[in-house]
Amino acid sequence: MQMLDRIEKIFYTAEDLDAAVKRLGAQISKDYEGKNLMLVSVLKGSIVFMADLMRAITVPCKIDFMSVSSYKSETSTGVVRILKDLDESIAGCDVLIVEDILDTGRTLSYLKKLLLNRNPASFRICTLIDKPEARVADDVTADYVGLNVPNEFIVGYGLDCDQLYRNLPFIGVLKQEYRPG
Ligand code: IMP
Ligand code: MG
Repeated sequence: MQMLDRIEKIFYTAEDLDAAVKRLGAQISKDYEGKNLMLVSVLKGSIVFMADLMRAITVPCKIDFMSVSSYKSETSTGVVRILKDLDESIAGCDVLIVEDILDTGRTLSYLKKLLLNRNPASFRICTLIDKPEARVADDVTADYVGLNVPNEFIVGYGLDCDQLYRNLPFIGVLKQEYRPG
């Protein structure tokens, strides 16, 4: 059984994603000229995006990773657990959060408050995918958006369903029988 057999439709092809990443990389490279850029990736969903985006950025930057509690189990409470904190101090850094998808916004709302307390020089959010219809948190907007999707559950290019399909090179929707319960 191949992953492709479980896909109902493709939302964005590898070429669409590549174009979006290159566009974001060029814009970020312009905006962060002469700054102290620190890319902060939220594991695990954003690793594919992070790996491509950092190579589309032409100004010097540092990278760091955070891991927070998963989407399904704690989504309703608004509580986010830090499973892995940053390795480095962000004081004085121009922090750019690199997210796979901005959905309800609860995760980033929490992370924003937490990280703003650590005195970064600036704080912005870059998300590959925005799902504006799903937004609940009112204090979070993305400064950089790659592509939009409607309120549907998508997989691929880092995004999972029960930890599967992160390795698809495109973004798509699963057939009904493989979607989350
Ligand atoms: P939030 O609802 O904005 O807090 O999103 C939290 C996390 O849920 C995202 O960073 C993703 O990892 C995950 N997520 C949200 N929507 C989807 C989706 O459509 N497919 C796969 N993961 C998703
Ligand atoms: Mg994520």
